[in-house]
Amino acid sequence: MKIVYLKEVDSTNDFAKKLIDNGDEAIIIAERQSKGKGRLGRIWISEEGGLYFTIILKGDPEFINFLSAVSVVETLRQYNINSGIKFPNDICVDEKKLCGVLIEIYKGYVILGIGINVNNDIKIERAVSLKSLGYDINKFELLFKFLKIFFENMKKDKEKILETYKKYSITINRPVKILLPNKIIYGKVVDIDYSGIMLDIGNKIINIPAGDVIHLRFD
Ligand code: BTN
Repeated sequence: MKIVYLKEVDSTNDFAKKLIDNGDEAIIIAERQSKGKGRLGRIWISEEGGLYFTIILKGDPEFINFLSAVSVVETLRQYNINSGIKFPNDICVDEKKLCGVLIEIYKGYVILGIGINVNNDIKIERAVSLKSLGYDINKFELLFKFLKIFFENMKKDKEKILETYKKYSITINRPVKILLPNKIIYGKVVDIDYSGIMLDIGNKIINIPAGDVIHLRFD
């Protein structure tokens, strides 16, 4: 698979779509993004120093979603950095967001976009970068370690990845407040699977589809 390296781009995910239109598969890396995209139409601030990349893949998006979060955690463990996954796929250190994942489906391809705050300065609350945590890490080395782990993990089965995902989850067994499209709901997360969250709301356990979760906060 070829690697495309860009100084600046609007969004590596959008650039991936142009490559797909031309029949190419690639990994796209950019130093900066002028229109970095987050989940649910949010902006992903993409200043110099962060690691912003997209992988064009074929496969099951739910599996790739959990697999990518697990692979980021495992990559950080190689640097002795302890992180956890906040549902669905935020990677946090001490409950502060270090990495986000945006998956899009385009013409039968899975566009996997990952943003990791490596050496960028952080100006928002509840976020951290490896630099702000005191680490001095080469982002390309981090990327190549990630790619190795990710493609190895891709050979594993869905159940195994779910098991590992749950091991690294910081959402399971936690009281949470979840913002849904039409209401806010409180409960304790008792389980997670590829379809969503199982939430204990006191008198019963309900299933909340992953796609309905606009925001999840620890309560
Ligand atoms: C989120 O947590 O909301 C997801 C953030 C995803 C950011 C990455 S950076 C590389 C790729 N290109 C984008 O425009 N977004 C993703």
